[in-house]
Amino acid sequence: MKKVLSLVLVLALAISLVACGGAKNDNVLTMATNAEFPPYEFMEGGKIVGIDAEIGAAIAEKLGKELVIENVDFDSLIPGVQTNKYDFVMAGMTVTDERKEQVNFSQTYATGVQVIIVKEDSKITSVDDLFAEGANNKIGVQLATTGDLYCTWDIEDEGLGSVERFNKGADAVMALNSGKVDCVVIDNEPAKVFVANNPGLKILDTEYITEDYAIAISKDAPELLAEIDKALGELIADGTVKNIIEKYIPAE
Ligand code: ARG
Repeated sequence: MKKVLSLVLVLALAISLVACGGAKNDNVLTMATNAEFPPYEFMEGGKIVGIDAEIGAAIAEKLGKELVIENVDFDSLIPGVQTNKYDFVMAGMTVTDERKEQVNFSQTYATGVQVIIVKEDSKITSVDDLFAEGANNKIGVQLATTGDLYCTWDIEDEGLGSVERFNKGADAVMALNSGKVDCVVIDNEPAKVFVANNPGLKILDTEYITEDYAIAISKDAPELLAEIDKALGELIADGTVKNIIEKYIPAE
């Protein structure tokens, strides 16, 4: 009798182990981000915080799920969602036609602007200076971001300059500080944070391009897209999203 009982226990344990390690846990939503993008996502006291982390948590709560946030390189976000490694991506991610071929996007929840950071005494004074014939600037960007894509197409491919790609936006800013690049093209909100932390740098007041941020979800998961989009729509309508954004980006 004892033997049978322990056999049953061992079997039960084995089954539960397989269940945990194997199939996805239905109660957990996995959000992937790249926490190098303040104030949308950044590390604070060993935790991922910011606008996207809070909106993601509010969405998970509405769907009655536990949120797990994974911090990965920006260029592995889309591949990870495509292979269903993560349920969704929130990373200040811009909706583009190219990305729309790879993933589905929710409605947009915020706007971003690609801006140019330079040293205070830079010869670059406007966006047009980057496109000028014979300009030949070294432009720092975060790898695989829209800043990278646009500068590669508009400037590098046209022979008007070169693009230096960094894993983190902050590293591109460090390269600007040490004179390894002539400017950095990056989203306006992280730009403000980086410039505030680095005396001697400024943001040009001409804009490169305006973009929309949205949540990326696998093309294999249309039901999840509908659920997330509905929850996000409700959080926009009741002012939750606006409050979260204003908590991190106080209105000027
Ligand atoms: N908006 C830009 C893009 O979609 C940059 C986003 C970078 N986000 C991040 N968490 N590092 O490409």
